[in-house]
Amino acid sequence: MKILDLAPNTGDFLAEALAGLRASPATLPCKYFYDAEGAALFEQICELPEYYPTRTELTILRSNLAEIAALIGPHARIVEYGSGAGEKIRMLLDTLEQPAVYTPIDISREQLLNSADLLQQDYPQIEVLPVCADYVTELTLPVPATSFSRSVVFFPGSTIGNFTPSDARAFLQRFYRLCQQGQQPGLLLLGYDLKKDPATLEAAYNDSQGVTAEFNLNLLRRINQELDGEFDISQWRHEARWNENSGAVEMHLISLQQQQAKLNGDTFHFTAGETIHTENSFKYHASDMQKLAADAGFNLVKGWTDSAQHFQVQLFEAKAQS
Ligand code: AVI
Repeated sequence: MKILDLAPNTGDFLAEALAGLRASPATLPCKYFYDAEGAALFEQICELPEYYPTRTELTILRSNLAEIAALIGPHARIVEYGSGAGEKIRMLLDTLEQPAVYTPIDISREQLLNSADLLQQDYPQIEVLPVCADYVTELTLPVPATSFSRSVVFFPGSTIGNFTPSDARAFLQRFYRLCQQGQQPGLLLLGYDLKKDPATLEAAYNDSQGVTAEFNLNLLRRINQELDGEFDISQWRHEARWNENSGAVEMHLISLQQQQAKLNGDTFHFTAGETIHTENSFKYHASDMQKLAADAGFNLVKGWTDSAQHFQVQLFEAKAQS
């Protein structure tokens, strides 16, 4: 399998970790959760009883796939951001009329290669063109040999929630530019988590089996293993909190005692209870996302939700360029 490899190297990881730890309050970028161990933990999270987003989105997609496929039409190029294990895309490819090209984009190289290989075997008629990249950066996608009708950006899993709303808008603008490639107007199929009662939100990120805690702590483990950091993992605990003002569930690592940690010659001091903010998971009202997408050049075609209105899938069409 040929892969376009634009992935960041450990130099970026070190620079970003140092910048985050020097900031006050300290932060670490959530994109570094996903090494092989982190990706496996995230898959476990998706199966947890408290973590409703994955299974709810699957239910919404499953219930409305025929309609979604009809709106997309034949011979589409599907570009999936953050493709992960690739389960949702199979449902979509199975229902679409003769999809032409599939470009999965993911930061986790191993997982990307494995799932792209399996997918190519199962769908030999589709041109699979994987790209390993930190998709926050502007990307030039590989040009397919197969002609296609339109570009469809598939961005499921509420990953858009891990960006600030203003970064999300910039991201949607990039999708809009990508949507210009193809004969027909491009589409965006977006899945994101809706605002709801804080107890349900916090439980989803503070699961009773402690898998999310392991996922969060894995970031410190990576710093120790890959960057020669000296964090005492046993002296940190995981916490998730709903922040009403920002509209996000925040994940933090909390220092259990006064301590110091070393990285690349720098010593970082932490008081007991001090936190490292590792992730934001922004939640939206459907109307807010529609506004954000409109700002980036998209019209809403149709939206679907579940009976509890926990999650939203929306299909947008790129407006003609003025
Ligand atoms: C990948 N992303 C949408 C997940 C979320 O819900 O924000 C990451 C996650 N963090 C903790 N649990 C899941």
